[in-house]
Amino acid sequence: MKKIPYGRQNIDQNDIDAVVSALQSDYLTQGPKVKEFEIKFAEYVGAKYAVAVNNATSGLHLSVLALNLSKGDRIITTPITFAATANCVRYAGGEVWFSDIDPNTYLLDINSVRELIESKPKGFFKGIIPVDFAGLPINMEEFRALADAHSLWIIEDACHAPGGYFVDSQSEKNFCGNGNYADIGVFSFHPVKHIACGEGGMLTTNSKELYEKLVLLRTHGITKENMDENHGNWYYEMIALGFNYRLTDFQSALGITQLAKNNKGVARRNEISANYKKEFEGKIKFQDLPAGAYNAHHLFIVEVENRKELYDFLHSKGILVQIHYVPVHTMPYYKNIGYADAGLVHAEKYYSRCISLPMYPTLSDDEQNFVIEHVKQFVNG
Ligand SMILES: Cc1ncc(COP(=O)(O)O)c(C=O)c1O
Repeated sequence: MKKIPYGRQNIDQNDIDAVVSALQSDYLTQGPKVKEFEIKFAEYVGAKYAVAVNNATSGLHLSVLALNLSKGDRIITTPITFAATANCVRYAGGEVWFSDIDPNTYLLDINSVRELIESKPKGFFKGIIPVDFAGLPINMEEFRALADAHSLWIIEDACHAPGGYFVDSQSEKNFCGNGNYADIGVFSFHPVKHIACGEGGMLTTNSKELYEKLVLLRTHGITKENMDENHGNWYYEMIALGFNYRLTDFQSALGITQLAKNNKGVARRNEISANYKKEFEGKIKFQDLPAGAYNAHHLFIVEVENRKELYDFLHSKGILVQIHYVPVHTMPYYKNIGYADAGLVHAEKYYSRCISLPMYPTLSDDEQNFVIEHVKQFVNG
């Protein structure tokens, strides 16, 4: 039986040739391809700066450090995300405060965040990490206004959303991670994401100061600029406690060719989404699309009553659907530090019903029809 995964990478000969050529060059780790990828990625999303990293988890860690998160700082995020979104706060000794999702868009609900902020004294929170969940862009303009009113920073977890955008009140298209409203955008190049580098990530920002901090922290906190001393050309100084979170040159070469076909991939994802919606409209609940938003569709999620049975039924037919996500606050690690009773009713209801159907550019019409037929067969009993 042919298996149909929920997501998969799209590697063609052009990608392979680019990697082979990078492997034959003088650089394996940071070389010219890293810089080229950063420049092209910044251009693609419309941000001033981009910093390539070895994965988005490292990127999130660098982001909270660049924004000076320190022990005890309280950060708000969504429970419906991959654990890494919240974990970065813990790496730096901060406290994660989960706020509920909108039951129709599945995104962090700004009203729930506002209520949470307003229920605490001024200065209680330091930042917000909203997620462009499943590829649907957060309205970052609204989040910025809320954040500014309370002096908070914003990290946009855009791991699901390269190529997605929302339209702001000035009728401007804002691509996810463009840095117009959020301080830093974070992208992942894990194989099931839009751009596959094996492992990899990118940080985007419009702030020169944040850019310089991110670059410094990515490479051990080592610099050759503005040094206290200079013993000769070999000399460098370590001025901060940084890490080795670098992306390699051959991964960047792959990232460049992957990026070049991202628009085509996102367009195909939207075609697949339109097919699902046409078949399910009025019968099966799926993620809402707010006016002016363009969903990059990392995932296509539906909600059903008997989710476990549907999951098992589709798997028995070779359709490898997945669940995104088990709410982060219910994970034993977070339960053990007191998050079990977070009162996140929409997130928990969503989790009991959600299922991610196959969504990737190379999914064929026949394969999608096979999926649709079996979902309908199950739902219609
Ligand atoms: C929303 C979100 N944030 C962060 C990450 C972490 O990305 P990476 O695997 O590149 O570290 C993921 C990956 O699954 C994700 O889905």
